[in-house]
Amino acid sequence: MPRPVVLDVDTGVDDACALLLAARHPELDLLAVSCVGGNAPLDLVVANTLTVLEAAGRDDVPVAAGSARPLLEAARDARHVHGEDGLGDLDWPRSARRPDPRPAVELLRDVIREAPEPVTLVTLAPLTNIALLLRTYPDVAAGLRDIVVMGGAANVGNATASAEFNVFHDPEAAAIVLDAAADLCLGVTLYGLDVFYQPTVTGAQASRLAAAEDRAARLAGLLIGFQCERFGDPATIGDAGAVCAVLDPEALRTERLPVRVELGGSWSRGRTVVDRRHWAGDMSHDPHGRSPVEVDVALDVDGPRYAALWLDTMGAA
Ligand code: RIB
Ligand code: CA
Repeated sequence: MPRPVVLDVDTGVDDACALLLAARHPELDLLAVSCVGGNAPLDLVVANTLTVLEAAGRDDVPVAAGSARPLLEAARDARHVHGEDGLGDLDWPRSARRPDPRPAVELLRDVIREAPEPVTLVTLAPLTNIALLLRTYPDVAAGLRDIVVMGGAANVGNATASAEFNVFHDPEAAAIVLDAAADLCLGVTLYGLDVFYQPTVTGAQASRLAAAEDRAARLAGLLIGFQCERFGDPATIGDAGAVCAVLDPEALRTERLPVRVELGGSWSRGRTVVDRRHWAGDMSHDPHGRSPVEVDVALDVDGPRYAALWLDTMGAA
């Protein structure tokens, strides 16, 4: 039986790569997609998400709009990374489909409650929607198998020297999600920057996809091609790696570690503080004590294996 999943996205070029994988892979049953402001303003995120699902032939998947801005921070975007339209400025034909009338938290609530078996929630964006979902409808935990979060890092930042974009965009939401997941006994895998950049696809592979008959393959190739031009060749499949982690967890090395989200700090706000200490002496003298929140932090990945999984699913020869 295909594994039921829901995605929370801020589509975005790499969210699009993830959506194509989740929509096309036969071992996944993509039940719904919720949108949040992040890489681009919410209206563009919704339009981009509907467009990508249309390219994948999946107009059956409901899409809902969630929060346009973080819980406390002002809305910011990353169009310097993803292009003015958030989808690589490809002039790809836009879907005319309307989003689901329900707010994202209600669509997620309904879909998770009605799912035939526990659902894997894959978050690829700032965690505003998910914080609101878990605090408003904690009963959905009974319908969730686990959560895979693309966010944070043990060692590096990208939005700032110390924070990863999805967590930096809404640190309070990230802290709430990790706290609520621990409260609700939900397993969390943190697919962060320590692995995010390792699964890569070359410009030549992208060009072959872009020349394909299949619309989803063409879009996939153009998305990677955009990244190759903007950031260099090869380009990461980004968020799609978090979906690969659902399909092929064996290729990911994780360690269950205490994590806190820095909410203060002049230069460290939004950092995921991953505690990798092992000597009890250090811990016993630490005034902060050990974080009660532990997550499975991805520390290494077989990048070529995830890149191949994505390429094969896109139909690369
Ligand atoms: O830091 C990378 C993450 O931020 C990815 O999810 C990307 O799409 C942006 O949302
Ligand atoms: Ca994203």
